[in-house]
Amino acid sequence: MKRKQIVAGNWKMHMDYEAGRALVKAIIDRLQPSDTVVVVGPPYIHLKNISGIIKDVTNLKLAAQNCHQENSGAYTGEVSAPMLKSCEVDYVILGHSERREFFDEADSLIARKIDAVLAQGMKPIYCCGEKLEVREAGEHEALVGRQVSEALFHLDKGQIQNVVIAYEPVWAIGTGKTASPEQAQEMHHHIRSLIRQQFGDTVADGISILYGGSVKPGNAKEIFGKPDVDGGLIGGAALKAEDFIAIVESI
Ligand code: PGA
Repeated sequence: MKRKQIVAGNWKMHMDYEAGRALVKAIIDRLQPSDTVVVVGPPYIHLKNISGIIKDVTNLKLAAQNCHQENSGAYTGEVSAPMLKSCEVDYVILGHSERREFFDEADSLIARKIDAVLAQGMKPIYCCGEKLEVREAGEHEALVGRQVSEALFHLDKGQIQNVVIAYEPVWAIGTGKTASPEQAQEMHHHIRSLIRQQFGDTVADGISILYGGSVKPGNAKEIFGKPDVDGGLIGGAALKAEDFIAIVESI
C-alpha cells in the first residue's frame, strides 16, 4: 500500500506576523506540484491568515503546534481544537518533546488532546521519542512503545487512520545530531509493528511515520529513503524556504 509522504515544518516560537507571511509566500513560490503532502506549522497568531494564503495551493496544508484538551472554558491563554478547526487547520502537532519537557505534558494528557483533535476532523501528528540516556541504557524501544500505547491504543480503527506519528529522538532535536538512517528505520519498523499488533495490517501499512530531529537538505534523502520512513517533521530547517523545499524535494 502506498502511504502518504508528508513533510511538515514546525516553526516553534519563531516568526513574527510579517516574517511568517513572507516565509509562507516564499514556500509557495518554490513548491512544485507532487504527491507529497507539505505542511506548515506556524504559531497560533498566523493560522487564520496563512489558511487564506494557502487555500488554493494543492498539497500545502496547515498545522497548529498544540491545543487544549477541552473544547472551551476558563483556561486563560489556551486555544481549543474547535477554535483551530474554525481557522481551517488540518493537522495538530501533539506531544512534542518540548511540550513534554517544558510544560509537563504526559501521555495521559496527550491522549485527551488527540481525542479533541480527532473529534474536530483534524489529524494529530503525535510525537514520540527517547532521551539520550534512555537510548544509552538500551531502553528506547520499550519507552517509545509505552508512549505509543498510552497515547494511541484507546483509539478505534477508524480514528487511528487519521493519526500521523512522528518519531523524534530528543537527543537529535535542534542538536545537529541526526539519528542514522538505520536507527530511524529500526525504530519506525518497531512502531509500525506495535501498530500492526494492535490495529492490524491495513492500519499498520497505511499509517505515515515521520522522522524528526536535525533533518537538513544534506541528510534528508538518505533518511527518507528507508522503507518505514514516510517523511519528516522539520524544525530549524523549516524556517528557510530554500532549505525546507530542498527537504520536500528529497522525498
Ligand atoms: P529540528 O527540530 O529539525 O530543529 O531538530 C525538529 C522538531 O523539533 O520537530
